[in-house]
Amino acid sequence: MNKFKNLINKKNKAKIVCLTAYSKNVASILDNHCDIILVGDSLGSVLYNFKSTRNVSLNMMIEHSRSVKMGVKKSIMIVDMPHNTYRNKFQALKNAKKIISKTKCDAVKLEGGGKVIDVIKYLVKNKIRVQGHLGVLPQSQRGKFKVKGKKKAEQLKILKDAQLLENAGVFSIVLECIKTSLAKNITQELKIPTIGIGASSYCDGQVLVTDDLIGLNQINVRFVKKYSNITKQINSAIIRFKKDVKEKKFPLKKHSY
Ligand code: KIV
Repeated sequence: MNKFKNLINKKNKAKIVCLTAYSKNVASILDNHCDIILVGDSLGSVLYNFKSTRNVSLNMMIEHSRSVKMGVKKSIMIVDMPHNTYRNKFQALKNAKKIISKTKCDAVKLEGGGKVIDVIKYLVKNKIRVQGHLGVLPQSQRGKFKVKGKKKAEQLKILKDAQLLENAGVFSIVLECIKTSLAKNITQELKIPTIGIGASSYCDGQVLVTDDLIGLNQINVRFVKKYSNITKQINSAIIRFKKDVKEKKFPLKKHSY
């Protein structure tokens, strides 16, 4: 069965696991465990200290994705299309094709609902696999992120957008920071899987930024659970290396030629 059918078949049967990777080494660890590996444009804030993902360029996404691809053997690999690379359907197709041909990823992700429907329909018509993204949309957001779907009108809009995306042919939708009841409702209404980040356990799957959950990126937000403190482990390894160098305990004969 193809990877995408397999993913969609997981709906209501098995939870979908998705994490971000920006490089080969991390991707090769994730590949043993994840259904989806996302090269997210979150790399702008996580790796480059950008205030917004709006500053991420197409080339940055392509170079990181080329590295990630070297670590991916079986997961579905999705690459975020950065801000301003899908302003109209022709630009979107050109850039999506460029991303796919240069990185050999399986699909691209675009943020937005109604406004990007024509773009998504055109990509799907041209055999590009697309994942949608609703709720908090970092590429359009100015200022602090606020949970979406608190008001009835916003709930109806996001639900309608989700239905539009499904009808346009996306194979799944990321729901970012929305109210639990809305995530539950959307997940029940759609035939395709929803992948939540800060969007409750009702979603068909979950995604987090790997650097956040392993404690490499220092972030404190409610929706991130820290599974490890990798910064502490790196720190302790570096301290031991430094001590060995100072005390001439490294390199030993066995490390030399
Ligand atoms: O850019 C990203 O990492 C994302 C996830 C947070 C879903 O879009």
